[in-house]
Amino acid sequence: MTGGAGYIGSHTVLQLTDQGYDVVVVDDLSRGYKDAVDPKLLRVLDIHDTAGLVRVFEEKPCDAVIHFAAFIAVGESMRLPEIYFANNVAGSLSLFTAMVKTGVKHAVFSSTAAVYGMPKTSPISEDLPYAPINPYGESKAMTERILNWFDRIHELRSVCLRYFNASGADPDGRAGERHDPETHLIPLLLRAVKTGEPVNVFGDDYPTPDGTCIRDYIHVTDLAQAHILAVEALLKGAPSKKFNVGTGKGFSVREVIQSVERVTGQKVPYVISPRREGDPPELVADSGRLQKTLGWSPQFPDLDQIVATAWNFALK
Ligand code: UFG
Repeated sequence: MTGGAGYIGSHTVLQLTDQGYDVVVVDDLSRGYKDAVDPKLLRVLDIHDTAGLVRVFEEKPCDAVIHFAAFIAVGESMRLPEIYFANNVAGSLSLFTAMVKTGVKHAVFSSTAAVYGMPKTSPISEDLPYAPINPYGESKAMTERILNWFDRIHELRSVCLRYFNASGADPDGRAGERHDPETHLIPLLLRAVKTGEPVNVFGDDYPTPDGTCIRDYIHVTDLAQAHILAVEALLKGAPSKKFNVGTGKGFSVREVIQSVERVTGQKVPYVISPRREGDPPELVADSGRLQKTLGWSPQFPDLDQIVATAWNFALK
């Protein structure tokens, strides 16, 4: 696995080891946290180092790679596109090259709903065209296309998982969300409850029932499980495929605030601010393909449960 010291990666390591899988984590710790992963599993390595990756695959032959390592901040990608294309596209290419060199034929790739840009329809199906509106989304779309060619030419089979809003924390409190700087709604709301510093609600004049943006919040453990099902399908010979990973249910920013207030028993301080550039009014997954093809279903479909696990981690 690459990027196993990050938010979604570290939760997936826990799920894999809980289920008896043997895991090696490659992470350069540029954005991940050393203490998020068992030191016995960790190889500190930059994914641009193709020869280093080849050595890891030779030392520890593996059946599949789950590729998380990437930069993920949309706003940063609008200021520094070069680091997004270098890390997310060129880094992925280095990884896929090392896989081909060592005969590793299965990949699960961490993609994003940002490949769809500002879709006009909701829920979103996987058949919508690529229409990214920022370098982050573009970097993921480009990597998906590289995988299409590696499938055709090198028979490297892959599953691209297009995440909606990953949220929550390990239900046993072993891991959680730690981004620096934090830009995601739920951790920011929880921080506001703890510090009293108000959160900016980016716009309340959207064409949605309460005027705030609607997103599909998916628990990180459910997201992690989708990766395991994808690996298992690939190992059984399934063809390459792309899946949305969301619950199919949307919540507005105001509804998330209400959920945080129910869970914490405290008022969330917030102010209505101008819209944030590039925010679509509504992003909700059609996750039918994932449910039907991989037999996935969310264990934590309830927003309050998601928020409760995040709050449990935030209190530590
Ligand atoms: N929001 C606020 N105030 C904040 C932070 C967020 O009002 O301080 C709102 C946003 O405007 C949005 C919602 O809360 O409506 C969720 O915002 P997040 O930043 O938590 O998540 P996004 O939906 O913007 O981003 C997610 C992923 C990205 C991905 C994007 C598009 O985190 O990686 O979906 O698919 F690119």
